[in-house]
Amino acid sequence: MDLSEALRGTGSARRFTEEPVSDDVVTSILDDARFAPSGGNRQPWRVAVVKDLSIRRHIADLMTTVWHEYLGEGSDPSRTPFAFGKSFGATPIVEPNWLLDEIEKVPVVLSIAADLNKIALMDGDIGRPPITGGASIYPFCWSVLLAARARGLGGVLTTFLSRAEQQAAPILGLPPGHAIVATIFLGHPVHLNTKLKRAAVTDFATIDRFDGPAL
Ligand SMILES: Cc1cc2nc3c(=O)[nH]c(=O)nc-3n(C[C@H](O)[C@H](O)[C@H](O)COP(=O)(O)O)c2cc1C
Repeated sequence: MDLSEALRGTGSARRFTEEPVSDDVVTSILDDARFAPSGGNRQPWRVAVVKDLSIRRHIADLMTTVWHEYLGEGSDPSRTPFAFGKSFGATPIVEPNWLLDEIEKVPVVLSIAADLNKIALMDGDIGRPPITGGASIYPFCWSVLLAARARGLGGVLTTFLSRAEQQAAPILGLPPGHAIVATIFLGHPVHLNTKLKRAAVTDFATIDRFDGPAL
């Protein structure tokens, strides 16, 4: 499909039909996604294609706890950047999440890890939470979603499991020095949203300086 169309119309899909997705298709998606850029071309990604239903259930339970905490009621206006969820210490809110409740039915569950020895953290020591490290892994994740879209599939990238990484690591056999960066769910979407809501270029692009005139 046209690249611009794909970039503008690849929304999240969080519910899938029962139509299976073959290993060959998953392999071909990863075969496209491996051309994603990464710092120093170190390609820090590792992918576990999680098929075992007991492993799926285990990680879904971990993610469900995080999901409920994330929804926790209330808001703390003093929360710092990078705060988790809507507030600190809030009472968890229980809401259904098909991906997690029905993880056994999701056609493809990919656990994505990053080899931290292959990431140069440019902003690791400058007195604020680092962010550039993710740039070596999330383009790959996005390429997985675009490659899936090119094959008529949909999906969503989630980061719930990173919060439960310590518990998930032994279940997934996470190698030392690696981080869990995403769980990607793929399948034939029940509905694919292609009309995406995003801010206009004039809302975020300026000339010369971030306080400059709109582009
Ligand atoms: C880095 C990143 C982390 C995300 N984490 C989650 C997540 O933990 N759970 C979830 O349901 N969606 C997650 N998403 C999906 C976003 O919610 C989604 O991309 C966003 O709401 C835009 O949705 P749309 O493309 O359908 O408009 C994540 C997306 C990105 C890029």
